[in-house]
Amino acid sequence: MNEQIVILDFGSQYTQVIARRIRECSVYSTILRYDTPAKEIQRLAPKGIILSGGPASVYAEGSPKPDRRVLSLGLPVLGICYGLQILGHFLGGRIDRGLQREFGKGTLWVKKSSPLFRGLPKSIQVWNSHGDKLTKLPKGFEPIAVTENSDFAVVQDLKRHQFGLQFHPEVVHTPQGRKVIENFVYHICGCGKEWTMRNYVGQAVEEIRERVGEEKVILGLSGGVDSSVAAALIHKAIEKQLTCIFVNNGLLRAREADAVRNLFGRNFDMRLQYESAASDFLKKLKGVTNPERKRKIIGSTFIKVFQAAMKRAGKAKFLAQGTLYPDVIESVPIAGNPAALIKSHHNVGGLPKNMKFELLEPLKCLFKDEVRLLGEELGLPKEVVHRQPFPGPGLAVRILGDVTRERLRILREADAIVIEEMKANDWYYKVWQSFAVLLPVRSVGVMGDERTYEYTVAVRAVESKDGMTADWVKLPSDLLERISSRIINEVGGANRVCLDISSKPPATIEWE
Ligand code: XMP
Repeated sequence: MNEQIVILDFGSQYTQVIARRIRECSVYSTILRYDTPAKEIQRLAPKGIILSGGPASVYAEGSPKPDRRVLSLGLPVLGICYGLQILGHFLGGRIDRGLQREFGKGTLWVKKSSPLFRGLPKSIQVWNSHGDKLTKLPKGFEPIAVTENSDFAVVQDLKRHQFGLQFHPEVVHTPQGRKVIENFVYHICGCGKEWTMRNYVGQAVEEIRERVGEEKVILGLSGGVDSSVAAALIHKAIEKQLTCIFVNNGLLRAREADAVRNLFGRNFDMRLQYESAASDFLKKLKGVTNPERKRKIIGSTFIKVFQAAMKRAGKAKFLAQGTLYPDVIESVPIAGNPAALIKSHHNVGGLPKNMKFELLEPLKCLFKDEVRLLGEELGLPKEVVHRQPFPGPGLAVRILGDVTRERLRILREADAIVIEEMKANDWYYKVWQSFAVLLPVRSVGVMGDERTYEYTVAVRAVESKDGMTADWVKLPSDLLERISSRIINEVGGANRVCLDISSKPPATIEWE
């Protein structure tokens, strides 16, 4: 088992950020619900425990409380914000409603030496976000650092290796917070730097081999980051026992199907079953303009095509999926926890429940950035590992109105120009998504001496952390100019280009 730090989640919007910061220190971390029994935590043999922040007040009725035995397991504990208040509450301190809410940037003055602040200056910039504060120290604790509003901004009990921070070391607004976290995991918990994707490959390959044995595995390969990395990893473990099914739904970007066949079929020498199903999809989409209907039709057609493909692939015991850690973390259902509201918006499971497979999900404990590192470790090219997200229903949700072969051609050509220019000008990997959209609007233009009456292409480029909110990207005007003139000159059927300057919310990233 990996050396690990357990994070008890009290509903903070930053809990996953804490977990990622720890992993960036090459130490494995696991997020558990705040009320996970101490016995269960003990079974994982963690090297330390972090109590996350949270929106509640410790004295409020129904506020989340841990199993109090967690504090007497003899393990190092770091309470962050609400976590500090939990320490105070359970260990004999007192918490008061702060007379002044402390929110935003502040300065922390370190008054006493502490292993948490090893190598840090006497004052650092920190990020606060709390209303309540500790006003009486718990037994055995001493104050270490203060802020303008709090005498007990950092407290410690060195004997029991328990620490509390009023500020958030995990967020970027605490520029040296990373060092505080490193000090906790390396010097207080004694973790080594064992969690690396190089080590994970070996470990995951072993686990996959052991679990799969002589059985067969099927994986739906979309060409996106997650399914590609899952395919490469499983293939490394069991080679020809894995069959990847790639469905060409006719709604893919230019050269995409060939790229997948070349990379996985040829370079990796995987057993790749290519399903050419464009006409099935296009027939069903004929005349359909309603976005939701389009999505439903594509979803159900995909299931049919995939089921038939699986039959042809032969009997398999396992179905592999590129599920990631954020999809499996249970959110804490308390008011004020945004993570409780934002939950799987798109990642529709897809396949019907009556299909009898065991799921193989080798990326289930990884964050997206780790999946990319893993992909690099497995030898996947940058274009795959760092590619922008692409929606399951493909270009159909970027063609407003009727989806026909001709309109797909126009969009594909325009989109290829957007991608090419974004890459050539070093913008592609800097943004979340950049693509073309084909509008149902035709307008008048002149080409040479001829009057034209053709379609309009919209260009959309957004930056985002997770797709939930997004800002439009202020691309340089010479790049926009190049994209526009190339589309108008090179793509038959389009004579006008617009730029989408809406953010999400209220707009969405995709147009349908
Ligand atoms: P919206 O348009 O809702 O998109 O702002 C947010 C993010 O999700 C992607 N997206 C999808 N991904 N299947 C997917 O796997 C889908 O049906 C789907 N629809 C939208 C979108 O590209 C953006 O990154």
